[in-house]
Amino acid sequence: MSTLTPPAQVDIVEVAPRDGFQSIREPLPTADKIRCIQALIDAGLTRIEIGSFVSPKAIPQMADIGEIVAHFAERPGMRFSALVPNLKGAELALAGGIRELVFVVSVSESHNRSNVRQSVADSLAGLANIAEKLRELGERDVRLRLDLGTSFDCPYEGRIDWRQVDAVLDGARNATQGIELEVALCDTTGRATPYQVAEHFTRLKERHGESRLRWAFHGHDTYGMGVANALFAVHHGATALDAATAGLGGCPFAPGATGNTATEDLIYALHGGQVHTGVDLARLLDAADLIAALPGGQTASHLRHVPRDRVG
Ligand code: COA
Ligand code: ZN
Repeated sequence: MSTLTPPAQVDIVEVAPRDGFQSIREPLPTADKIRCIQALIDAGLTRIEIGSFVSPKAIPQMADIGEIVAHFAERPGMRFSALVPNLKGAELALAGGIRELVFVVSVSESHNRSNVRQSVADSLAGLANIAEKLRELGERDVRLRLDLGTSFDCPYEGRIDWRQVDAVLDGARNATQGIELEVALCDTTGRATPYQVAEHFTRLKERHGESRLRWAFHGHDTYGMGVANALFAVHHGATALDAATAGLGGCPFAPGATGNTATEDLIYALHGGQVHTGVDLARLLDAADLIAALPGGQTASHLRHVPRDRVG
C-alpha cells in the first residue's frame, strides 16, 4: 500500500503583518508592529509579507509602512514582500527598498471593485504598467507575486469556477510576459474545501504547466478548512503557503471572513510529515502570544491553546 509522500520543503509566507494588521481598525503603534515582526523573524520565518503600499485612506493601518520597511532594511537571508494594488504602490515599495511586489487582483469583478475600486481589466492594465516598470529597471533580484483574490469563492458572487481563475490568470500572464511569477490562489473568504482546492490547482497546472510559474496558496480558516486546504494545495503543486501567526485577521472587504490559517497550526501539520520549514515552533508560539496581545485583533489558533509541553 502506498502512503502519501510529503515534499522535502515548503516555503511559509508569513502574512500577519499585512493581512492580519490591516484587519485592526485602530492604528497600532509602529513600535508594536516592529516588535511582532522581529519575533516572527526570531522564530525562523524568512518570507514575510511586511505590509502594503496602499492608499492610507483605504487602509489607515498601513500608513507607517515606509517606516517599518526602513527598520528592517539590510537583513541578509530575509525575503520581505509588500502588497501593491497599482503602479503608485509598486513605485513607493521599490523606492522604499522592497524587492518583492505582491500584486493583488480579484477573480470576481464585484470583489475587485470593492477592494481596489476598479474593474478587473483596469487592475490588469495596472499590472502591465508595473511589469513595464520592472523590465525598465532590469533588476534581476526583484520578484513579482500575483495574488488572485476570491479564487474559490466571492462574498458577493458565490462559488468561483476554476475557468474564471484561468481567464484572469491568462490576462495577468499576458500583462507580465518575460517576468517570472509566483501565482497565489487566494481563498479570501475561507469557504473553499480541500477538493475544490485540488481541482483548481490540478486544472490550472494543466493549463499553465508549461510556463515557469510557481504556485502558492493563501487560505483563511473561516470554515475550519485552512490546514486541510493548504495540505491539498501542497499535494497538488503549491510550493508556498501563506499563513498568519495566531490566525490574526479578516479581510475588511470580505464580510464574515476570519483570519488566515494560523501559521503554528500549519507548521505542526507540516513538521508531522518531516517537511522542512525552517521555523522553530516554540519560538513561533511566543510570537503568536505577542500578536494575540495586540489590542483590537481577532485571533484563531488551535496550537496556542494546547499546553506547551504537549506541542512538538
Ligand atoms: N499608495 C499610497 N497612496 C495611494 C496609492 C498607493 N498605492 N494609490 C493611490 N493613492 C492615493 C492617491 O495619490 C490619492 O491621494 P490624494 O487623495 O491625496 O490625491 C488617493 O490615494 C486616491 O487615489 P485614487 O487613484 O483615486 O484611488 P482610489 O480612491 O480609487 O482607490 C486604491 C484605489 C487601489 C488606491 C485603494 O482602493 C486602495 O489602496 N486599496 C487597497 C485595498 C487593500 O489593501 N485591500 C486589502 C488587500 S487584499
Ligand atoms: Zn487574505
